[in-house]
Amino acid sequence: MDLTSFPFITPSPTEKLLDFSLGTLWMKRDDLIHPAVSGNKWRKLKGFFREVDPSRPVLTYGGAHSNHLRAAAFALAHAGIKSIGIVRGEELHASSSPTLRYCISMGMRLHFVSRAEYKELRAANWMPSQEQVQPWGAETAQILPEGGAGVHAMEGCGEIWRELDWMPDHLLVASGTGTTVTGILAAMPVGAKTKVHVISAVKGAKIEQATVEACAAQKSINLHWEDEVHFGGFGKIPAQLTPLQTAFNKEHGFAIDPVYNAKVWAYIQRTSFEGSVLWINTGGVFKP
Ligand SMILES: Cc1ncc(COP(=O)(O)O)c(C=O)c1O
Repeated sequence: MDLTSFPFITPSPTEKLLDFSLGTLWMKRDDLIHPAVSGNKWRKLKGFFREVDPSRPVLTYGGAHSNHLRAAAFALAHAGIKSIGIVRGEELHASSSPTLRYCISMGMRLHFVSRAEYKELRAANWMPSQEQVQPWGAETAQILPEGGAGVHAMEGCGEIWRELDWMPDHLLVASGTGTTVTGILAAMPVGAKTKVHVISAVKGAKIEQATVEACAAQKSINLHWEDEVHFGGFGKIPAQLTPLQTAFNKEHGFAIDPVYNAKVWAYIQRTSFEGSVLWINTGGVFKP
């Protein structure tokens, strides 16, 4: 599959955001990689696209607001590959969210399944049974797991680190499933001096935390898992977060997303750092 037809910006640029009393804050602008396949989405999809068979459809998964579903719908349409999206929530329909409407506009065929069935699919590592795929018309489909997760995703997220030509004292990254930070950790050298701060957008993500901490420990990398700035949990955007986000957008002239990166910004505001701090902007703001 020829990827050169995608106008992606990689390596993504690193920009200085501000100086503070004991150091400097930088941002790696993965949000600039592509307007529709924003941030870590292309990092996660790239390896899959290298091996995909364009003559067969791709079946993937997500919720009504899934950044992954939206990015996959665009990238697959752009590559001329048929796409099928399995959406969590049988009560939903094609216009239940802007994301689902966008996926439809990209030609993705959507099927809605109950939360119980979706849970079973997750437990089956996203491999549907023959009985499941028939009504979806997906007998020959290639499977792309929820969130684009998998070996390819880890490898692709490792590129975030490999693109750096310096080692910051602190690296900050938002986390949902932990795939992005795990990929970064896998690419870092053993005993790297960089302290990794993981800002969880999900409340009490204990399994993800344990997995990520184990990866860091294996490589003797200092890691802090932050579970206090989720603002009530995944997707919660309470009134006290919005002014922080708006102030950032106004001061820096570009928008950060409210679900992940605004929470990183909130973490920065309440933490004292010394030295160079690199915030990985994982995207999430879409411009179709
Ligand atoms: C914009 C954005 N930032 C961060 C993340 C968290 O990434 P991960 O699930 O790999 O931890 C996601 C989810 O994929 C996301 O959409």
